[in-house]
Amino acid sequence: MSVPPPVGVDLDVGDELELDIGPVAHGGVCVARADGRVVFVRYALPGERAVVRVTEARPGSFCRGEAIRVVRADPRRVVPPCAHFGPGGCGGCDFQHARADLQRELKAAVVREQLRRLAGIDMPVIVESLPGDGFGWRSRVRWAVGRSVPGTGISEYDAVLGPRRYRSHEVVPISAARPCLIAAPGLTEAADALDLPPSADEVVLTRRAGADPAVAYLSGGRRVAGSSVDRADSDYGATILTERAYDRSFSVADTGFWQAHESAATVLCGAVDDALAHVDLWGGAAWDLYGGVGLFAAMLADLVGPEGSVLSVESDRAASDLAATNLADLPQARTVSTRVDRFLRSAADEAPGRVGAVVLDPPRSGAGEAVCRGIARRWPTVIVYVACDPAALARDAATLAGVGYRLAALRAFDAFPQTHHVECVASFTAV
Ligand SMILES: C[S@@+](CC[C@H](N)C(=O)[O-])C[C@H]1O[C@@H](n2cnc3c(N)ncnc32)[C@H](O)[C@@H]1O
Repeated sequence: MSVPPPVGVDLDVGDELELDIGPVAHGGVCVARADGRVVFVRYALPGERAVVRVTEARPGSFCRGEAIRVVRADPRRVVPPCAHFGPGGCGGCDFQHARADLQRELKAAVVREQLRRLAGIDMPVIVESLPGDGFGWRSRVRWAVGRSVPGTGISEYDAVLGPRRYRSHEVVPISAARPCLIAAPGLTEAADALDLPPSADEVVLTRRAGADPAVAYLSGGRRVAGSSVDRADSDYGATILTERAYDRSFSVADTGFWQAHESAATVLCGAVDDALAHVDLWGGAAWDLYGGVGLFAAMLADLVGPEGSVLSVESDRAASDLAATNLADLPQARTVSTRVDRFLRSAADEAPGRVGAVVLDPPRSGAGEAVCRGIARRWPTVIVYVACDPAALARDAATLAGVGYRLAALRAFDAFPQTHHVECVASFTAV
């Protein structure tokens, strides 16, 4: 039986202690306390009591641990179906041990807490589900190549492929016998059949309707020989795929950005559309910042109509070029290939006049203070912020509040089931 250490005793990696598990925190962990010391625990649920093995300990700081045995279980705890999920396992999924409705409640609690703590905003949050059963949703995977796996007898010549272990560079070998359960059907099998080029350190696999998955081998982030070449476009140096969302087709590079969940792009377009429903944009101007291949710009083009104007701003040249192609039938839409902060510095010249709506969908790090201030300087009627990290959203919400924009509504979506990730669509209006 594990015994809690006496007060004041430091914890070491490998220590095992029985703890009451407190609330969920950002990052797929719950907070527990051992003699006042904070322990971030994976594989536990709020209200449970569990034996926790310490996995990281720094003197005078918080620790990390994993629940290795549950003493008092939440009634909504389930047996995780994936062979790779659990202590010492894959870093991809965080919540396979919780029923789907509980996963969404945990994510809602995290979004609410981030907004409260970082922006002083207290609002109820509901995380909505996306179609599907929460497995096989990931239409694209980016897996690492491992040349040796400690303790498995796999030599450096027997390359393995898979996600990384939690907070480790080690690769979790995925195979048809031990598949990744959130990857779309066919991706694990395709990965299993690959003949990995010696230089590849990563592989991107993307499902394609009615065809084998597209395969891109990468070395140091750059594509190397051997990648699938059908419809490869030398201008982009990538295989160009056709994705459908919100009743439109979009060309997207296999290594470029597209929402991973099969339904996410359409669901998010619907949420952005709803957020703009009360604003009359007809004949006016709208911006789609961090625009990717033009997903939200296409929707905005319908809202401003043929006499209006939409600007899609995207820093990745290939994505921006594809956006121009994707939006070619919408003459009111224009693309600019530059960083959003740079665009905003010159926006008065580049895109003068009133801007009715700004949609922004920044990467995980968020937009940041300068971008939020730059947007507010143009005084749009509404700002719709699509966020994949609630902490970044909360930080930017605090900045926007300081420059006259109030968080008026927020929807959140379980676009990454089994993981701690959550997608938010937040509307800000001028106070
Ligand atoms: C989360 S994705 C959103 C893309 C698009 N809205 C979609 O849903 O398909 C973020 C996009 O921002 C781009 N990006 C990252 N940093 C940027 C910056 N500083 N300025 C402009 N675009 C940026 C990335 O290349 C990526 O395409």
